[in-house]
Amino acid sequence: MTAVLVLHGPNLNLLGMREPELYGKMALEEIDARLAEYGRELGVEVRCRQSNHEGALIDALQDARGWAQGVVFNPGGYTHTSVALRDAVAAIGIPVVEVHLSNVYAREEFRQNSLISPVCRGKIVGFGWRSYLLGLEALVDAINAKD
Ligand code: DQA
Repeated sequence: MTAVLVLHGPNLNLLGMREPELYGKMALEEIDARLAEYGRELGVEVRCRQSNHEGALIDALQDARGWAQGVVFNPGGYTHTSVALRDAVAAIGIPVVEVHLSNVYAREEFRQNSLISPVCRGKIVGFGWRSYLLGLEALVDAINAKD
């Protein structure tokens, strides 16, 4: 069975409480539950992880090589700063879909540059918690594509 990792970066453990006007009112546990449910509909196993630590995110990406066929990744603030996370995404050799809850292009200029995007299969931004569902759908489609 196809398995995918959904990886949440720093501060996303506070979803629901954290700047809800930007990131919505839904808690991370609820988003993860909806992802697991959507995964069942799509016929894939979804495993969700969150960390506030750059090295732990790199470990999770490297570990995914051993069991996952792809990754949905919200790198949070590291999106705009982390060469090491970009290198990890490039290294693992499975498709990664970058997702963001907010429309980073409608926000501060420093959020408009992603070090991660150039090494990703694609990216979804701006649809709140639904960005994750759209990202999962796009990832599974890319994994299954035969054309
Ligand atoms: C975010 C956007 C980032 O700029 C920010 O640092 C986050 C959340 C999003 O999902 O919209 O932590 O990744």
